[in-house]
Amino acid sequence: MTDPLYAELLRIAQEAARRAGDLLRDGRPADLAVAKTKSSPIDVVTEMDIAAEKLITDLISGHRPDDGFLGEEGASTEGTSGVRWVIDPLDGTVNYLYGLPTWAVSIAAEQAGETVVGVVAAPMRGEMYHAVRGGGARATGAWDGERELACRPAPPLEQALVSTGFNYVTDVKRHQAEVAHRLIPLLRDIRRSGSAAVDLCDVAAGRLDGYYERGLHPWDLAAGDLIAREAGAMTGGRPGERPNHALTVAATPGVFEPLQQLLEDFGAWHD
Ligand code: IPD
Ligand code: CA
Ligand code: CA
Ligand code: CA
Repeated sequence: MTDPLYAELLRIAQEAARRAGDLLRDGRPADLAVAKTKSSPIDVVTEMDIAAEKLITDLISGHRPDDGFLGEEGASTEGTSGVRWVIDPLDGTVNYLYGLPTWAVSIAAEQAGETVVGVVAAPMRGEMYHAVRGGGARATGAWDGERELACRPAPPLEQALVSTGFNYVTDVKRHQAEVAHRLIPLLRDIRRSGSAAVDLCDVAAGRLDGYYERGLHPWDLAAGDLIAREAGAMTGGRPGERPNHALTVAATPGVFEPLQQLLEDFGAWHD
């Protein structure tokens, strides 16, 4: 039976992700503009990133006023309840800015530093993915109700379809391009969706054999990492590490270790 606290956190995360997803989908201004930039001129934030984070933190605080927050757009409070929410209100901002459909709302709840609930909503797909620690991962779709998520049986590495992402900082991107250049001939192909949260859920759903990226932040990966693991995927960083800023790898067992080893050999990580 699901822990009643986890069940409550899941309900709240799903409500917040659905409301923020509706706001982003239905409220996107036709003349959407860049509100500010962060690490580089292409690391953009729109008014909708900020509005979605406010909606999510207000909604969660209304239910659970003593919880802490870590949000990409600045929400940062300690809280006193032992629960902290890790939020990416709009993962895939560049896609959203251009009107491409691959973007998501990512909400995770941590207890004692461990992710216990993860929800990723992908409104333009009509899908929401969720996992509770120890309880498996599921997707609810606009068309096909609720289904269990399970990663794919592993193909040989040279037949693996692997996604990645590129950073907003030119030097990091140059290094990522060199790693991708070496990897492409060793795999079936590489994809670049533009949303780390969607990539991790696609590994969970068996739509990708693997995913890796350097330079992710906790809000990019917290929910998707739990969803991927609960769907049977393996996730990590460099060998022996949990996914982190230096490197995040997620893949179906059988692809994970050879992919992680290649990334180690190619120096794909960086602190
Ligand atoms: C970005 C997306 C992208 C990934 C970047 C992230 P944002 O998040 O997840 O796919 O390659 O590393 O920063 O800025 O759109 O929330
Ligand atoms: Ca961003
Ligand atoms: Ca993100
Ligand atoms: Ca974001």
